[in-house]
Amino acid sequence: MKKVVIISSSVREGRKSHRVALFFKKFIESNGYAESEILDLDAYQFPIFHERLKYQKNPPANAVEFAAKVKAADGVIIVTPEYNGGYPASIKNALDLLIDEWRHKPVAISTASDGVFGGSQVITSLQFSLWKIKALTVTAMFPVPKVQDAFDESGTPADAEGVNKRATTFIKELMWFIDCVASTSHS
Ligand SMILES: Cc1cc2nc3c(=O)[nH]c(=O)nc-3n(C[C@H](O)[C@H](O)[C@H](O)COP(=O)(O)O)c2cc1C
Repeated sequence: MKKVVIISSSVREGRKSHRVALFFKKFIESNGYAESEILDLDAYQFPIFHERLKYQKNPPANAVEFAAKVKAADGVIIVTPEYNGGYPASIKNALDLLIDEWRHKPVAISTASDGVFGGSQVITSLQFSLWKIKALTVTAMFPVPKVQDAFDESGTPADAEGVNKRATTFIKELMWFIDCVASTSHS
């Protein structure tokens, strides 16, 4: 069974985008696409970046665990809110921590905001950072407008039919990238 990890980026008190991460975990598992796990940056509480993990003399155990989970995953979904037109420091902190783990890793981006644009301004900057660390960014988007209304606290969508349709397209694109990477003999 393939493994997809979902990085929930918001560490904000009263965060809403975590609901999207909860939704994806259930959606991926209930449709049999992969095993899925949420890597919650609010739970990890990594200190602000001071060096990449592999160069740290005494790396914290939870950062080592996070790195291992990203490395072992066939694909990654990053769920991130938009803050002031960009992605939050929490996800940059986690991206910069790792190097080799991101290389050729299929990564799909889901953005969220409380307004009508669904955090879509984050996509180009986050894709560029992922490209710089050699991740394979998936060419499908999953913006979530009005995230506070779109999903309840358990990750259940208000418009199940519409959300499931969009999520199917999004996850199938991720799985396509995963299959491409799995089928290549090049490293
Ligand atoms: C510091 C900050 C900056 C924000 N900037 C934007 C923005 O540029 N565009 C937008 O659509 N929403 C913006 N918002 C609103 C967020 O989209 C909204 O708070 C959303 O719920 C954030 O996700 P979270 O609850 O998971 O942290 C901002 C919120 C915060 C806290």
